Amino acid sequence: MKYIPFLSLALAASVTFVACVNSSRKTVSEEDWIEQTLAKMSVEQKVKVIHAQSKFSSAGVPELGVPELWCTDGPHGIRPEVLWDEWVQAGWTSDSCVAFPALTCLAATWNREVAALYGKSIGEEARYRDKDVLLGPGVNIFRTPLGGRNFEYMGEDPYLAGEMAVPYIKGVQSNGVATCVKHYCLNNEETNRHTVDIDLDDRALYEIYLPAFKKAVQEGGSWSIMSSYNLYRGQHVSHNHRLLVDILKGEWGFDGAVISDWGGVHDTDEAIHNGMDIEFGTWTDGLTMGKTNSYDSYYLADPYLKKIRSGEVGTEELDDKVRRVLRLIHRTAMNQDKPAGSMRSPEHYAAARRIGDEGIVLLKNEGLLPVKPETKNILIVGENAIKSMIVGGGSSSLKAQREIYPLLGITERAEAAGASVKWVRGYVGSTDNSYNGVKSGQDLSESRSAGVLIAEAVEEAAKADLVLFIGGLNKSKNQDCEGKDREGLELPYGQDEVIRAIVEANPRTAVILISGNPVAMPWVDDVNAIVEAWHGGSEAGHALADVLWGDVNPSGHLPFTWPVALADCPAHQEGMAFPNDGKTFYNEGILVGYRWFDTKGVKPLFPFGHGLSYTTFEIGEARLSGKTIRKDGSLKVSVPVTNTGDRAGATVVQLYISDDEASVLRPAKELKGFEKVSLNPGETRTVTFTVKEEDLRYFDADAHAWVSENGTFTARIGCSAGDIATEATFTLI
Ligand code: GLC
Repeated sequence: MKYIPFLSLALAASVTFVACVNSSRKTVSEEDWIEQTLAKMSVEQKVKVIHAQSKFSSAGVPELGVPELWCTDGPHGIRPEVLWDEWVQAGWTSDSCVAFPALTCLAATWNREVAALYGKSIGEEARYRDKDVLLGPGVNIFRTPLGGRNFEYMGEDPYLAGEMAVPYIKGVQSNGVATCVKHYCLNNEETNRHTVDIDLDDRALYEIYLPAFKKAVQEGGSWSIMSSYNLYRGQHVSHNHRLLVDILKGEWGFDGAVISDWGGVHDTDEAIHNGMDIEFGTWTDGLTMGKTNSYDSYYLADPYLKKIRSGEVGTEELDDKVRRVLRLIHRTAMNQDKPAGSMRSPEHYAAARRIGDEGIVLLKNEGLLPVKPETKNILIVGENAIKSMIVGGGSSSLKAQREIYPLLGITERAEAAGASVKWVRGYVGSTDNSYNGVKSGQDLSESRSAGVLIAEAVEEAAKADLVLFIGGLNKSKNQDCEGKDREGLELPYGQDEVIRAIVEANPRTAVILISGNPVAMPWVDDVNAIVEAWHGGSEAGHALADVLWGDVNPSGHLPFTWPVALADCPAHQEGMAFPNDGKTFYNEGILVGYRWFDTKGVKPLFPFGHGLSYTTFEIGEARLSGKTIRKDGSLKVSVPVTNTGDRAGATVVQLYISDDEASVLRPAKELKGFEKVSLNPGETRTVTFTVKEEDLRYFDADAHAWVSENGTFTARIGCSAGDIATEATFTLI
């Protein structure tokens, strides 16, 4: 009993100590901690934290208790662990993930809530894997349908891309994991991504290529940004003074860290002075493979230290970089409030399925879909019904715990409805089945000729109640793949011939495309139903079956214009090269995507924002809250939307604005609002948009300012850029 005083003293002391630590931790603000830590760091320690120490990590300051920073790809799921200084996977058995649908599918949902769900879910998986920075989302503008990485991005319109990126960013960062929005900027093609030197007028830069990144920074609050490989006006973007210092950090007030793309840094002096904060992936002898673990020879490593020690450069820039790195570490690795995270949970699979359910786009349907109850035998034709789309495609490649291929999902659903399913190859695409050591486990080798495969498909099609052709692109080179662009708009591997043959054998044929890009459709008039199913990830087959059987009424809408021919596209006009290399000027300027098709009167195959449903909708007359709008003012435009069909469904009401009296070139109309609306049969709801005067502005390059011109404007509202149901004119005064 005699120990009680001592024990109580010890208890009181320990309680006091914990209280002090907590209170000291709690009372020191982020900025104070940064300054205090910076003051304790030597120059060597400062240089250590501004470049990689391994393939996906940068150093902390062990002596001061500052943790390392760990990054992971990618925008669709958490990449498997790799070896310290290798791309190849480390062979862990605990790092498989849920593969979420590609971001083009997310954009096609046009649903901000789904974007938030996506970010929260993928952020939980990154958190569980103890990663501090998720290298995504990608928001580069879809400038050409040949773009190899369009599947990782969110379409052709900067407003849509930005609106969908913000909730994703907030969702990820709610887990104490930073997003690293990429690839800032003008990385719109792959083949010569390291050497293409982009130039364009400032209107196009500010109105088309920057807005999604600006929104990601100013509204999403992204804690880091990834600089792109390409050059802009002769200077690599990873150390481009105008893009990183003047615009990103100056005009936008970005307080986070700029992380280079892997191998994007090429010059020490430029990297010091032009806003590069953390150098990753450099191949020290230029862009060929350097020696292993050569991190000290990075441009911002020993070469920088040498310049400081010689007095050639000061440490002001270094301190700014270190402050940004410490801020990123404090928000992530040192974040005391972050949740535990979770991995491969039922909730994440449900989220992946919902993103697919809401993103799949019904492009055409003349009654064949949804699958009728009397359908008893279904033929599936096509390699994409069984081919893994999760392994491959570049840095977004994943090791998923499971991948429900279309064939699996459809067979499960068909059998539940008492129907049988048969699959035939139809064509041979790619036998690729591994990436960085991750294998899909599929052997897609095929000895039969194309003719034999087509004959088999035709014979089987003639016997079926319903034929589902499942093709499109894949994640191999020159398809939907990083590092190489497509070489044409056509479907590869002779798929057009297969489609024609099976449609002739059986008109009850639907074409389902698994892709991240549009393709030419010479058979479009001969096919009853066409579905764009994107790269759906782990739950691809389930989501596709949900839509085909009508368990989910499709509500996806295109995030890009679907052209008839490549020559119709603004980036492929007469005399414009593709792929580009070296000095390249974006001649089309602000007329990207539907801005081009509308303004030039070019008819697309399917317009931007297009998507059908198994029900029908009607948009009534637009009503304005006033006929005029003043500088810095706003007005409201409302429309009644009615489900005029016999089943519940959702559509996307899109608001476009036209400047009817512009003194400068302006697109015929520009997307300025959207709302996804779910309605029961017969139900009417009023959708109201607020139009702000700032929505009417264009970027005046000479004044370097956003300006609006007095005069009349027209609000155009519909369910796609090609389906405007109602208009209302108002005047800016
Ligand atoms: C790649 C990609 C980038 C990725 C990084 C790390 O080259 O361009 O998106 O996050 O390197 O894998």
